[in-house]
Amino acid sequence: MKILITGGGGFIGSYIAEYYAKKDTSSQIHVIDNLSRAKLLNNSKFINFDYNWHYLKKYKNIHFFKEDIQNLGFLKRLMKKNGYDVICHTAGQTAVTSSLSNPYLDFENNAIASVNLLESVRLSDSNPKLILCSTNKVYGDNVNKIELKENDFRYDIKNKNFEGISEEFDLDLCHHTPYGISKLSSDLYFQEYGHSYGLDTNIFRMSCIFGPRQMATENQGWLVFFIICALKGLKIKINGNGKQVRDILYISDLINAIHSLIEKNIKNEVFCIGGGSANSISILELINYLQEILVGEIKYNFENWRSADQLLYISDISKAQKILNWDPKINFKEGIKKTVDWCRENVKLFK
Ligand SMILES: NC(=O)c1ccc[n+]([C@@H]2O[C@H](COP(=O)([O-])OP(=O)(O)OC[C@H]3O[C@@H](n4cnc5c(N)ncnc54)[C@H](O)[C@@H]3O)[C@@H](O)[C@H]2O)c1
Repeated sequence: MKILITGGGGFIGSYIAEYYAKKDTSSQIHVIDNLSRAKLLNNSKFINFDYNWHYLKKYKNIHFFKEDIQNLGFLKRLMKKNGYDVICHTAGQTAVTSSLSNPYLDFENNAIASVNLLESVRLSDSNPKLILCSTNKVYGDNVNKIELKENDFRYDIKNKNFEGISEEFDLDLCHHTPYGISKLSSDLYFQEYGHSYGLDTNIFRMSCIFGPRQMATENQGWLVFFIICALKGLKIKINGNGKQVRDILYISDLINAIHSLIEKNIKNEVFCIGGGSANSISILELINYLQEILVGEIKYNFENWRSADQLLYISDISKAQKILNWDPKINFKEGIKKTVDWCRENVKLFK
């Protein structure tokens, strides 16, 4: 198999690359990344952002391109030279906060870069399976219209029959944040290149993905960032009341879902992917759980709410369960423990 991974030097992309590099040593894995995470998150000092890029160098069947996917000429040449079977598009600007301070940079790296990728495939002779890493943020503030119950440590959905946010949930006429819009526009462009040009485009709208090797910061990767703060004895800053809930998914379960999509004869689908309601957790519950497993008091304080924060986001994963024949295998407590173990062993990476 010949597979291209944009953003392969990042968290999710590097796991996809590693999975296929190990699975079949005759596979050719091409990774493109411009190593811009530090710049995009405006945070070059805190951690070793290029860790995953160097980590992958041990695999002989991974080929590296240090390039910006806004470079359409480069992408066209790459597509012409290589008939890929699969393209996983993970590259992008990932933080809501950065998108609010620099909406144009966000638009360039998410919307324009995605259209460039699609265009380079459209103009080539190949027809790879394309997979976009989209996000729960495409539903914006509409998520906050769901009726919630406020409990001591978390919000819950009032209606017990409501499984969570599905692919059909309303994504129009609401506050989104620039990140939500740039990701929604890539999501829609992916759908459109399927409809208008017959490309095999597929979309994963993902909730919170976490695990070892996530180079988390205050602005992206909240769960791993809180683990790092806890391990280093730093005070955790909670925006809002800490009762916000997310369904969290351990990275190996995401890779299993991607593999299932690649293996099956599925075309032009959108899936909500996350841990589902069984793996949902609030910030306060995470802190309580970290105190339990680290056996120590964790310092934290409360600050203002963030713009357009979703009070509760739980993915309805029933479509993915049925069509991809997939289920999360690592429950959230096990996933958190594995991540804590890795962060503890690698705490030096987080200066
Ligand atoms: N991690 C999550 O919880 C999560 C949740 C929902 C959606 N997503 C989406 O999944 C994707 C991957 O997320 P991640 O956590 O692996 O992020 P990441 O920042 O670790 O990886 C993204 C990579 O893309 C690269 N990149 C950015 N712009 C680029 C460009 N123009 N050209 C080439 N490379 C570029 C960065 O250098 C980085 O290495 C993102 O698109 C993100 O929006 C992630």
